Amino acid sequence: MIKLYGVAGDPIAHSMSPKMHNYWFELYGIEACYHPFLIKEENLRDAVKGFKAFGMNGFNVTVPHKVAIIPLLDGIDPLAKAIGAVNTVVNENGKLIGYNTDGPGFIKSLEKEISDLEQRKTLIIGAGGAARAIYFSMAERGVGEIDIFNRTAEKAEQLKKECPFDVKTKILEKEEAEKLLAEYDLIIQTTSIGMSPRIDESPISIHNLRKDAFVCDIIYNPLKTKILQEAEEKGAGIKNGVDMFVYQGALAFEKWTGIFPETDKMKEIINKQLGG
Ligand code: ATR
Repeated sequence: MIKLYGVAGDPIAHSMSPKMHNYWFELYGIEACYHPFLIKEENLRDAVKGFKAFGMNGFNVTVPHKVAIIPLLDGIDPLAKAIGAVNTVVNENGKLIGYNTDGPGFIKSLEKEISDLEQRKTLIIGAGGAARAIYFSMAERGVGEIDIFNRTAEKAEQLKKECPFDVKTKILEKEEAEKLLAEYDLIIQTTSIGMSPRIDESPISIHNLRKDAFVCDIIYNPLKTKILQEAEEKGAGIKNGVDMFVYQGALAFEKWTGIFPETDKMKEIINKQLGG
């Protein structure tokens, strides 16, 4: 029987997940289909019941359902519970279990380029849902020092307070972050600043960035945000959000099939689709 997977979100029409997973299913000769489901917030409960009733094998969850889905599931993995958001659900013998592959996907994409991640003094910009997944996953991975700058400092303080993993964290104001930037080996931009159409905006000045530092932006539209352009001009390493997207998908695919799929060709396909 053909296995069924999908992604639940609103909006969902522009999701690249169906293309990605269907490509991998075909590549590995797995008889399966991955479909986008447009699910309104008020219909999430019924949708999850339906997915379960007809024996869907697994699905991804995206905006705005990543938090709301948690009480509707039969179980949740400890990291996803700590992060407070689920992006991947696996049907394990009739029980729907929630996972979070956003943070781990981000880390896996970084590990390709940075071998001593634990030693890298890190600055996270932002304190929203994406920052939370990345901060908790990096702390769980053993990164020793992770500071946070966010427009609303209280939200950053809250993240620090709620992190269940051992990590040294300072909450910085913008001017402080800009002044101390040379201290950081790794800078991770998680806000929506710089996203199309506001492509001329950047969350901080990176005047003091070291050229042996590495800067990541979780945005992939545009492929190179202003902060990444400036970092590249300074000679620093850069990474956009395509890698994180592909790796969160690869980890979901692995949870469903046991196969960690190839990622290089997929990154190429997604980059091309995004005009790169
Ligand atoms: P996501 O799930 O994508 O992380 P989110 O939870 O809404 O989205 O978080 C958005 C992040 O971008 C927050 O850190 C937010 O800062 P605040 O906590 O101060 O709201 C940040 N952000 C969004 N627009 C911003 C702007 N114009 N200037 C500064 N920060 C902004």
